[in-house]
Amino acid sequence: MSNPNQLESFWMPFTANRDFKKDPRLMVSADGMYYASHDGRQILDGTAGLWCCNAGHNREPIVKAIQEAAGTLDYAPNFQMAHPTAFEFANRLTSLLPDGYEHTFFTNSGSESVDTALKIALAYHRAKGEGQRTRLIGRERGYHGVGFGGISVGGISPNRQAFGSLLPGVDHLPHTHDLERNAFTRGIPAHGAEKANALENIITLHDPSNIAAVIVEPLAGSTGVLLPPKGYLQKLREICTKHGILLIFDEVITGFGRLGSPFATDYFGVQPDIITTAKGLTNGTVPAGAVIVQDHIYDAFMNGPEQAIELFHGYTYSAHPLACAAGIATIDLYRDEGLLTRATKLSAYWENAVHALKGERNVIDIRNLGLVAGIELTPREGEPGKRAMEIFKKAYEKGALIRTTGDIIALSPPLIIEEAQIDELMGIVREAINEVY
Ligand SMILES: Cc1ncc(COP(=O)(O)O)c(C=O)c1O
Repeated sequence: MSNPNQLESFWMPFTANRDFKKDPRLMVSADGMYYASHDGRQILDGTAGLWCCNAGHNREPIVKAIQEAAGTLDYAPNFQMAHPTAFEFANRLTSLLPDGYEHTFFTNSGSESVDTALKIALAYHRAKGEGQRTRLIGRERGYHGVGFGGISVGGISPNRQAFGSLLPGVDHLPHTHDLERNAFTRGIPAHGAEKANALENIITLHDPSNIAAVIVEPLAGSTGVLLPPKGYLQKLREICTKHGILLIFDEVITGFGRLGSPFATDYFGVQPDIITTAKGLTNGTVPAGAVIVQDHIYDAFMNGPEQAIELFHGYTYSAHPLACAAGIATIDLYRDEGLLTRATKLSAYWENAVHALKGERNVIDIRNLGLVAGIELTPREGEPGKRAMEIFKKAYEKGALIRTTGDIIALSPPLIIEEAQIDELMGIVREAINEVY
């Protein structure tokens, strides 16, 4: 397939449009662990697309389910109406979670899941007679999508700076990245749990009675793979519980087996009140997201007159029939192939392979958990992000899709990856790192 000859019309998201359009990189098909590029090359997928294709690409059961759904029920509203697969999907999804998470609200993306979770948190307190609890707490360097709620609680400055005053009443915890004490740690870093204590300071400043929720990514991905220090998430949970504040885990990338457990909540043994998901929910095939809540949250809404709508929120495409079909087939495939726990089996091999890059040019940290790795590079003087971007382009030329954010390389391959493909990926990353000055 040749390049489209007109690249101007598509204003590309999170892209340097002018640079890209001079030398475009186009994917034209995908199968298993590989994309095919427009210039006829096989590109090893080191990032599961954008952290979403956990079962790899072009998986037949999912493709078939979507095709069948499109020919059976193309669309049905879910406002005061519904279709059976929406309920089946919700049941399947909540059955992946520990007891007590029996209710799910469907969205179409991670950003919508985050904004939905924040709205549910506010409305929950109001329903409980504590409508003054309106303050939200996020974290520096957090990524929670691009809605106004998500960028307000998020902590990546370029995602916020051009967009005005955002939501009022938001505070941020300090991030947990600590190169000095934790560089080159394998797995969970030892130092930094005390950073959770900053939550107590924020709570004292505003009084707990004014605070609705804390939202964090259990493992922060988009900001460049920042791991929670040992005991940190447990501490957040304890402080939130003590003060009646809801804890939201944004599991948009950690959901569906990325760390070797179905969700990060299982991995860390910490139960948030609300979990946001998207991406791996449908293996990236049909846009979909879901917010899963503990029963006490849902129950708090089910008190008024039975004819009254309990939550004035929802999307035209919440629980779209194609998304539900894709999601059910995805969850079945994850189960049949043991993908929700496969990262556990591969993680030692993965860890050794990525840490073998220690000592390569400009590498100042390597970190990993499950099937995630971050490789941090010294930024070039006065040109932050440029070195990593050049490595990204080199790796693509050499046949691997990696992801970079600032001067950090983030790797998160499909969970079907084999050891030989881990070697192939790391080999390309090593070459690319060493060819860029
Ligand atoms: C933790 C987290 N939350 C939310 C989002 C936003 O998801 P989406 O791009 O589907 O809106 C992402 C996307 O990378 C994410 O990593």
